[in-house]
Formats: sequence, C-alpha cells, structure tokens
Amino acid sequence: MKSILITGGAGFIGSHVVRLFVNKYPDYTIVNLDKLTYAGNLANLKDVETSSNYRFERCDICDGDAVGALFARYRIDGVIHLAAESHVDRSISDPLAFARTNVLGTLTLLQTARNFWKGERKDCRFYHISTDEVYGALTMGQPAFTEQTRYDPHSPYSASKASSDHFVRAFHDTYGMPTLISNCSNNYGPYQFPEKLIPLFVNNIRQGKPLPVYGKGENVRDWLYVEDHARAIDRIFHFGKIGETYNVGGGNEWRNIDLVRLLVRTTDRLLGRPQGTSETLISFVTDRPGHDLRYAIDASKVREELGWMPNLTFEEGIERTVRWYLENQSWLDDVTDGAYRSYYDRMYKNR
Ligand code: NAD
Ligand code: DAU
Repeated sequence: MKSILITGGAGFIGSHVVRLFVNKYPDYTIVNLDKLTYAGNLANLKDVETSSNYRFERCDICDGDAVGALFARYRIDGVIHLAAESHVDRSISDPLAFARTNVLGTLTLLQTARNFWKGERKDCRFYHISTDEVYGALTMGQPAFTEQTRYDPHSPYSASKASSDHFVRAFHDTYGMPTLISNCSNNYGPYQFPEKLIPLFVNNIRQGKPLPVYGKGENVRDWLYVEDHARAIDRIFHFGKIGETYNVGGGNEWRNIDLVRLLVRTTDRLLGRPQGTSETLISFVTDRPGHDLRYAIDASKVREELGWMPNLTFEEGIERTVRWYLENQSWLDDVTDGAYRSYYDRMYKNR
C-alpha cells in the first residue's frame, strides 16, 4: 500500500496517527481527509504540514461524490478511518449528528471504497477505529472486555459507533471487503480537545475554575497514552489479520476522582503552587445520564498476536501530558476562544 487515506486526521488521535505515518513512511502518500468540525484543528499538524508526502483535503465523509473523487485522484489503497463525532455529552444533546457522521459517514466511506476497489483489490485495507464503549459497562468485579464480549452500547455515541462497527463487519462478510477493526479504551495526551476530562481539568486548574466531577467520581476508565494507541494502529494496519477485531487498552484503570486528584497534584506542582491549592476547585455535579460505570480492556490478543504493548507508564504519560498543556497554553487559548478556526483559511484556502 502506498496511498493511505486517514479520515479525521485533524482531530486528537488522528493527528498523532498522521504524524507517525508521515514521519515513518516517507514512501507513502498520506492523505488527511477532515471536515474540520469544531473538533478538527490543523494547528495539531503544524510540524508535518509541509512534508512532501502529506496532503490535506477538507471533505465531509458523508459526501460520497467528493470522497469518490479523492479515491480516484490519489488512487487510495488503504483507509484508516477515525473521523467521528466523539464526545459522549454532545451525543446526549444532539444524537442525530452522531448517526449522520458515525453511521452514514462510515457507510458512505465503505461504499466508496467498495466501488473503487471493485472487490478485486485484496491487498487493500479498510481499517475502522472504534471504541471500548460499544461493549457497555462493567461492574467492579467483572473481567475486562474481550473481542468476544457482546455489544451493549448505552449512549447515543456508543450506539452510533456500534452501528458503524456492524456495517464494517457486514461489508467484510457480504462483499469480501478487506476490513480491520480495533476497539480502544480512553486516550489521553497532547492535542485533545478541552471538552474531554483531562485537558478540560488541566485548563480549569490553570485558570482557577471549578472541576465538575460527574456524580460521585466513582466511574472507572482505562487510560492509554495516545502515541501508544497510534503505534497499535500502525501494527494492526500493517500486520492485522483481515476480518479481525483487536482490543487495545492501557491495562490502567483509574476512578475518576483519583485521576482528578492526580491531575490537581501534578498541575499545581508544575505551576509552582503549594500542594493542595486546587483541591478546593473539585465540585461534584449532576451525573451524566446513562453514565457507564466502568470500562476495562483485555488487550492480550493484540499483545500476543501482533507484539504490541504500551511504551509509557501512566506516571510518565500524565507528567508529559500536563507539562505539554502548560507549555502550550496558546494552543489551549486558541481552541477555547475559537481562534483555531481561522487556521485553515490562513494556511490552505488560497493554495
Ligand atoms: P476528535 O473528536 O478529536 O476528532 C474527530 C475528527 O473527525 C475531527 O478532526 C473532526 O473534524 C473530524 N470529523 C468529524 N466529523 C467529520 C465528517 N463528517 N467528515 C470528515 N471529518 C469529520 O476524536 P478523537 O478523540 O481523536 O477520536 C478519533 C476516533 O477514535 C473516533 O472514531 C473515536 O470514536 C475513536 N476513539 C476515541 C477514543 C478517545 O479516547 N478519544 C478512544 C477510542 C476510540
Ligand atoms: O472509552 C473510550 C472513549 O473515551 C472514547 O470512545 C470517546 O470518544 C472519548 O470521549 C472517551 O469517552 P468518555 O466519556 O470516557 O471520556 P470523557 O473525557 O468525556 O470522560 C471521562 C470520564 O470523566 C467519564 O466517566 C465522565 C467523567 N467526566 C467527564 C467530563 C468531561 C466528568 O466527571 N466531568 C467532566 O466534565
């Protein structure tokens, strides 16, 4: 494969995947297809935007004609599909947007790839990036999700991702589409939109604003550093077995309240504030409706079959992440005041 379409490459995880592929595979053409919704930020890719093997195309995955034209122009032979509406709270207030992009957009992309590859190109790959949330919620003592765990989504976001996973499998089983799926746990790291827990709370601690912990803060998430996820995506894309699903996770479960206290300690220390200064910002607020209690991933398949494991410990990852947000306050300010939206016009519109 030489011409790889990465959808959602201007988002959080997508930008790390684009960066890894552009730098690691100079003989590939990496085409970043992104609509630039509120979550897309081309400033995330400043360091690779002039690389000779990188192209950016502003496009909606729901627009079949435009996506088809890009397949033809670049003779796409691999797809890594990350474009999605990704925030659970937004899915509760606007579920239709999630059905449109996550379900219909994925289906449009599958149809386009199928038409372009015509079922003859067995060397192609359609790799769909999904989430552990499709498996539903675990109680505290239950074993972690495996690839065999029954789907049981609870939020409009996870229902839309589950639906897209089913379409990807249906295209493999019905049309022989060479597909791969991975379901990953919570990612953290640089360039995450500050609506998600970790960047939102670091930003609020920095500004002395309240830290709204949902419910009692007892929900548990399994956290993975985003560059470790990007490396897993690289391995699965190149070495995964067609038609298979791989669970990816950090084996690193944290109760929200414990994670929030760690963020408070780390951020205060890095800002040179006395220990405990920002503890008073913690405020318990009304719980998220349908809030899944616990996610945990059993990643033994990707570890044993593809030799992947996380590189970074959580202590190193959190230190690196908090430090990054504090050293890149202009990135946070541009995102929160909306200035990032003009990046495309300044850098790309007249090219
Ligand atoms: P994100 O919200 O940061 O980025 C999504 C990107 O998709 C943005 O650049 C946005 O502009 C683009 N996009 C949205 N709608 C589009 C459309 N209709 N057409 C083209 N582009 C569109 O998301 P993220 O957190 O980086 O997640 C990326 C993928 O990984 C998603 O599919 C998500 O479900 C999955 N995932 C995320 C996590 C996590 O912890 N963030 C964990 C597991 C899986
Ligand atoms: O598990 C993978 C999923 O992780 C991805 O598929 C999603 O795209 C990604 O957004 C993430 O979903 P979560 O809902 O787990 O992430 P979020 O950062 O929104 O919340 C993490 C936990 O923190 C969750 O239990 C809700 C809680 N929370 C979140 C916010 C934003 C709070 O208590 N307060 C908050 O303000």
